[in-house]
Amino acid sequence: AQQAERQRILDTLRLSREQLLEVKRRMTEGMVLGLSKQTHDQTSVKMLPTYVRSTPDGTEQGDFLALDLGGSSFRVLLVRLRSEKRQKVDMHQKIYSIPQETMQGTGEELFDHIVHCIADFLEYMGMRGASLPLGFTFSFPCHQSKLDEGILLKWTKGFKASDCEGKDVVMLLKEAVRRKQEFDLNFVAIVNDTVGTMMTCGYEDPKCEVGLIVGTGTNACYMEEMHNIEMVEGNEGRMCVNVEWGAFGEKGELDDFCTQFDHAVDDCSNFPGKQRYEKMISGMYLGEIVRNVLLDFTTKGLLFRGKLSERLKTRGIFETKFLSQIESDRLAMRQVRSILQHLGLTVSTCDDSVLVKEVCSVVARRAAQLCGAGLAALVDRIRQSRNLNQLSITVGVDGTLYKTHPHFSSIMQETLQDLAPQCQVTFLKSEDGSGKGAALITAVACRVESEGR
Ligand code: BG6
Ligand code: GLC
Repeated sequence: AQQAERQRILDTLRLSREQLLEVKRRMTEGMVLGLSKQTHDQTSVKMLPTYVRSTPDGTEQGDFLALDLGGSSFRVLLVRLRSEKRQKVDMHQKIYSIPQETMQGTGEELFDHIVHCIADFLEYMGMRGASLPLGFTFSFPCHQSKLDEGILLKWTKGFKASDCEGKDVVMLLKEAVRRKQEFDLNFVAIVNDTVGTMMTCGYEDPKCEVGLIVGTGTNACYMEEMHNIEMVEGNEGRMCVNVEWGAFGEKGELDDFCTQFDHAVDDCSNFPGKQRYEKMISGMYLGEIVRNVLLDFTTKGLLFRGKLSERLKTRGIFETKFLSQIESDRLAMRQVRSILQHLGLTVSTCDDSVLVKEVCSVVARRAAQLCGAGLAALVDRIRQSRNLNQLSITVGVDGTLYKTHPHFSSIMQETLQDLAPQCQVTFLKSEDGSGKGAALITAVACRVESEGR
């Protein structure tokens, strides 16, 4: 009876093919509404124009600084592009930490910290006083009306610095540089991480016209026909659109798939009611879903002999890396037990380990399937807008969850193939982060500007 009760609870986290098709359908609908001026406000899918009009062509060159803010690490990079060696890009980077207090303090503190890191990096590279063109990967939703301006619509994930929403992030950084009075920066582009990833991968594979992130957060971008982007003047060619699909569900689109565990995670998050799709998929939240399921099982006496530990009541104990480790096929149950013990969870029986592993697997499978359904909507949209019967396309991907989880990518691809059978999709993992892509975008902008002179 206990086993049946456990399965009944886990079943609420299992999605049928019909449900996934419905998710795909609603995502498609959201994307269409988001692109049109009249209906833009009716959807949670923002479809933000990026002012990036082409993928790299290999002629990009020069030295560029890049910042990469918003994922699990903040990086400052120097990127050297030599056009004659398309495959070879020299990159130097340093990773800096951003303390929790700074992420959630004042905007001034946050941007002063960033500028402090840039100064340290220039010093470290022996380049003090250099004023290079800069590309800024900023992984949050921004309203752009040109390449070098980005108005922060809202913070997501773990960031919550005050006085930034509604402001141009490039300006905020410029002001911080001015306050420091040590060096000058030449801002050229502000880029979402999905766009940076698409460009990074596009440097190797010209068919890469989609960028996907499954990390701390989740999101995607793709090359859309200009005539479909009502927010931007002009009908020629294509422009990259940042879907901001993490917000999908904010208008109730996912309500019928959400469980009590999703509600619990949402209620205790930084931004209740926001980023509902992201909260069912990305690394920052999956562990929390698992923990809430385990809590429920334990309270009902179905796990850990019904003994609730303080550890299990602690938010954030299940990091992405534990999820990935627990599901690793090479692990014997003995090792699962030792991971759980490391987390401060005392496993009393072997069944406990088996059950915890099953919970992890059900939660991760649902995440991968939901992500696959969103991607199916996206590639099918591209196929249809190009009037093709078959589409062959490459998706550039980055993010810790995607890269470290043993099953996420295969389940996602299976779902995608099932829900978008007319698309042949190749996945290309980005090895260089999105900073390189930001540098490529900066390079193109600099070239275009010098040609215009
Ligand atoms: C990195 C990108 O490689 O992937 C970041 O350079 C991005 O900008 C990140 O945000 C996503 O992964 P995570 O797991 O660090 O959030
Ligand atoms: C969040 C951000 C989005 C970003 C994604 C992945 O969803 O809002 O801009 O691309 O995380 O980092």
